[in-house]
Amino acid sequence: MTVRGLDDWTFMVSTSINGISVSLTANLLVIATLVLTLLGDFAVSHLLSPLRSIPGPFLARYTNLYRLYHTTRGSFHLHITRLHKTYGPDVRIGPNTVDIDYPEPIKVVFGTTTKQKAEWKKTGFYLSSSTRVKETGEIMYNLFSQIDPELHAKWKRPVAKYYSAAAVARVESKMDEVVDMLCQELDKRVSGNNGQGGIDLGKWIVYYTWDVIGNVTFSQPLGYLREGKDFDGTLLTADKTLDYFAFITSIPWLDYVFDKNRIMRIMRIAPPSFNHIVGLSVGHIMKRFQEDQSTEQKNRDADYLDMFHEARQKWPEVVDDAMVVRYTLSNMIAGADTTSSIIKAAIYYSMMAEWGGKS
Ligand code: HEM
Ligand SMILES: *[C@@H]1O[C@H](CO)[C@@H](O)[C@H](O)[C@H]1NC(C)=O
Repeated sequence: MTVRGLDDWTFMVSTSINGISVSLTANLLVIATLVLTLLGDFAVSHLLSPLRSIPGPFLARYTNLYRLYHTTRGSFHLHITRLHKTYGPDVRIGPNTVDIDYPEPIKVVFGTTTKQKAEWKKTGFYLSSSTRVKETGEIMYNLFSQIDPELHAKWKRPVAKYYSAAAVARVESKMDEVVDMLCQELDKRVSGNNGQGGIDLGKWIVYYTWDVIGNVTFSQPLGYLREGKDFDGTLLTADKTLDYFAFITSIPWLDYVFDKNRIMRIMRIAPPSFNHIVGLSVGHIMKRFQEDQSTEQKNRDADYLDMFHEARQKWPEVVDDAMVVRYTLSNMIAGADTTSSIIKAAIYYSMMAEWGGKS
């Protein structure tokens, strides 16, 4: 498709200047300019970069394609471990990117006070995890993808307190029964088969964490444990979306080529995205709205949606309907795959330590 675009463009140039040789020269000029600009850019960024003294693979100093390549192979996490063994605690993994493997700067780098953010701004890395509203093409940022420090602080203030350890403990009751459900399903499937056949534990952990997020956010598990499968395709889409993020965040501006632009919207081409999860969230919010309208009062412990509605009352100038959607979306996209990865890793490494991968 890119190639065809280039052909059309060449055609336009050649017809408009009305002479093949002229158009060829024009093309060569454009290409030469591009190449020289890129080379100049490389040279300047390399010579002037404050990161130039940080060790790392040769190619990575010049281009993010290095990281992109290793990410698409799906093994960057192993690769980066090897790089740290070779180069030490700081490794330059891109012209403008350093990977560090010690915890001390976490507070500074991830700090969210406006002052710190002014020094350690979020980069374009985050932008691709915004969703694109299908109807209008508008980009919808969420708490995670909002990189403007002022706006981020403004959006975060109304809900920050709901993520303290104490606040999270208050929704623990919404996790307990999901834990029980997971254990029951595993018992049924493993002992029910006399231990034969085996199960894909990883899948069940993913069903579990998505159900937990559903219950703490909407007081309704999303239903994967009950159904025993990814019945609505959400999990597969989320998986593909994260693959796309892994790829695109190596070179963030590519997201404007592949996704967030008018042409892609008109042609209805889109990489996998969390749009479907926006739909899911909106569905739950509508349902809650109808429940609240009905006279019979639901007796339930507060969930995140209740907290977001509380935030709306307290901060009407910041929190509107769209912001409530953003908040629920942040939970969904930040809270399920992260926790399932951690649980899977903990179990995997425990098993490896116990059995050393022998059985
Ligand atoms: C083990 C599990 C988790 C890990 C490893 C994890 C990791 C992270 C990291 C590293 C960030 C910072 C991103 C950045 O600014 O660069 C982040 C942000 C965030 N996480 Fe988590 N997270 C986990 C679980 C959760 C859960 C369970 C929720 C919600 C229920 C959640 C909600 C969020 C939100 C809303 C943000 C954006 C905060 C902001 O930008 O102010 N995360 N997470
Ligand atoms: C969801 O949370 C409620 C508490 O609000 C709990 O009673 C219910 O059992 C939970 N559902 C599941 C499937 O765990």
